[in-house]
Amino acid sequence: MLENKEILESIDVNGEPPTDETAKQYYYMVKAANYVEEESKEAGRKLTYFVQNFGCQMNARDAEKLSGVLKKIGYEEAFDENADFVIYNTCTVRENANLKVYGRLGYLNGVKKKNSHMKIGLCGCMMQEPEVVEKIKKSYRHVDLIFGTHNVFKLAELLVTMYESKRTVIDIWKDTDKIVEDLPMERKYKFKSGTNIMFGCNNFCSYCIVPYVRGRERSRNPKDIIREIEKLVGDGVVEVMLLGQNVNSYGKTLDEPMSFAELLQEVEKIEGLERIRFMTSHPKDLSDELIEVMANSKKICRHLHLPLQSGSSKILKDMNRRYDKEKYLALAKKIRNAIPDISLTTDIIIGFPGETEEDFQDTMDVVRQVEFDNAFTFIYSKRTGTPAAVMENQVPEDVAKDRFNRLLKEVQAIARKRAAVYENTVQEILVEETNEQDPEMVTGRMSNNMLVHFKGGADLIGTLQKVKLKECKGFYYLGEM
Ligand code: 5AD
Ligand code: SF4
Repeated sequence: MLENKEILESIDVNGEPPTDETAKQYYYMVKAANYVEEESKEAGRKLTYFVQNFGCQMNARDAEKLSGVLKKIGYEEAFDENADFVIYNTCTVRENANLKVYGRLGYLNGVKKKNSHMKIGLCGCMMQEPEVVEKIKKSYRHVDLIFGTHNVFKLAELLVTMYESKRTVIDIWKDTDKIVEDLPMERKYKFKSGTNIMFGCNNFCSYCIVPYVRGRERSRNPKDIIREIEKLVGDGVVEVMLLGQNVNSYGKTLDEPMSFAELLQEVEKIEGLERIRFMTSHPKDLSDELIEVMANSKKICRHLHLPLQSGSSKILKDMNRRYDKEKYLALAKKIRNAIPDISLTTDIIIGFPGETEEDFQDTMDVVRQVEFDNAFTFIYSKRTGTPAAVMENQVPEDVAKDRFNRLLKEVQAIARKRAAVYENTVQEILVEETNEQDPEMVTGRMSNNMLVHFKGGADLIGTLQKVKLKECKGFYYLGEM
């Protein structure tokens, strides 16, 4: 691998761009840095950037990649939209995510009128929808740069095009099999980090837009993953979150296939790494091998996020989830038996087309039987282009809302009960930040992902501490070191 420094030294900006993609992007970073410097001189100050992230952990990781490039070319980070370069990294999994972006774009128009140096960029899942890009071209002409989920690595090159063309630059790819390694990243936390292990999704759950906007499943080479984590650990990271839309099918498309459980065992060997998390698991692909590896591991956290979506076998079939109620229940039981202290969390969609009260009761039944430690509940949102959007029997909003409220009440009551079982035990906590309300306190996480607040100073951030959990406050604990 070429180290960044070596790449930078070998670049001749007056020559042709290199053919190797990583080197090529560094070439454009050098070029972009010149433009930023010029503009900064004109403005008489350092230029600033602000990346606003919407959506999931995948997007959060992409935002770190965007920040990495922007810092490298000379922008300084700002913490609100009064910046010279504002990027919205969008989400489109539910419609309200889209509406939020349009609202903010309207507001940005006014901000831009007051700052002649300001540029606005849009990227992420929403930009992979052609109707969205059409709408922005027509109604939000103050946007300077639009790109998608497949070419985030190209930011430096796109910025150079933007500076040179002085018009809106749009570059959306339909799909890609490209994975570009070794680009700069600016991590939000010093001590923990996400790492992509795969991109895209092949499952086509009938309600979900992700396979259309994130493309086909492709796994990163295990060597690249391990090398990245080793580097992170060398940089002070003690907890890593392996990211993929469906981590349980990791490795199937590699030249030398490898299972997710095998990858986890390799990651476990990394010295200095203390905790391993991963997101998200699809129940249909969760293997016995994985359960065994988790049960025997010292580093894999006691937390499994296992989206249920619905408890009704009929709805699950229409959702194209490829498991039924019984199979999910059996799986949950197997996991709880093998790893008794595991925290099981889930996602549930209410109001999927055709959902009857009886189907809903099946969902409630699974919730009561499994006793999820936490559940993210969503009202079904129609996404144009997905099979479910044209299904008959769309559920009226008031019916869905009523079910949603009943579900939420049940979920919260169970989560409270489950949370309380750790009272008076001593747990290992990774300290994450100074407490927002009380600067004498810090906030950290248990292995099972629950938050704990206790007395302590900022010097503890990033360390593991043994903490006695004194009082459960519903969804978090007050403790004592
Ligand atoms: N409507 C509502 N919720 C959805 N999710 C995905 N697509 C939709 C949709 N169209 C939820 C699923 C998924 C989570 C990330 O978002 O529960 O697990
Ligand atoms: Fe969407 Fe299903 Fe893929 Fe998850 S597994 S991203 S819900 S299609």
